[in-house]
Amino acid sequence: MISAAPCRIAILASGTGTSAQALLDASGAGELAGGRVVLVVSDRREAHALERARRAGVEAVLCDPGPHPDRASYGDRLLDLLGARHVDLVCMAGFMRILSPGFIQGLGGRVLNIHPSLLPAFPGAHAVRDALRWGVKVTGTTVHFADELVDHGPIIAQECVRVLPDDDEERLHARIKQVEHRLYPEAVRLVIGGHARVVGRAVLVGGTR
Ligand code: GRF
Repeated sequence: MISAAPCRIAILASGTGTSAQALLDASGAGELAGGRVVLVVSDRREAHALERARRAGVEAVLCDPGPHPDRASYGDRLLDLLGARHVDLVCMAGFMRILSPGFIQGLGGRVLNIHPSLLPAFPGAHAVRDALRWGVKVTGTTVHFADELVDHGPIIAQECVRVLPDDDEERLHARIKQVEHRLYPEAVRLVIGGHARVVGRAVLVGGTR
């Protein structure tokens, strides 16, 4: 799917940006199979992810949704930003905004997302809280190709995290993030290396599930 290296990567992030940091670190260390993070975009001026990008010597851009009347127009603006920088692959890393179908289609399957649950369980903005409330004993994280629906596209990688008896949302999310910071760069390597092939809903990694 995306096998041509070097691959120019953009990160979309809204918050503290620890997942973005994991990708920036892997990029800086040359550990993304020829991929390189060239841009971090945020929809929030105060997002720490922007500062993390600047510190890593990577371009940081605020893309304010304010002036855009609807999701489609914001998606088009994002596409323009990425296109101008010849971005090949987009990694959403805590980007708290639903992207337009036009954005997803415009990138032709080259958008990844990371979500703090074992999808399809607990999609949405409060995955960790929802898992705790449900009383699951095991949750985890998922890296998947993004499609037009929220937290829905074909799954590239998943890993379990055990729920401990005294967990609250913060403690559990912190342990999930530890796993995410390793798993996201691994998944990006698979995709850039051409080892992740989408067949229907599944992603075959190296030819197998
Ligand atoms: C991560 O848990 C990720 O799975 C989810 O949002 C969180 C982002 O955290 N999509 P951070 O801003 O990268 O620290």
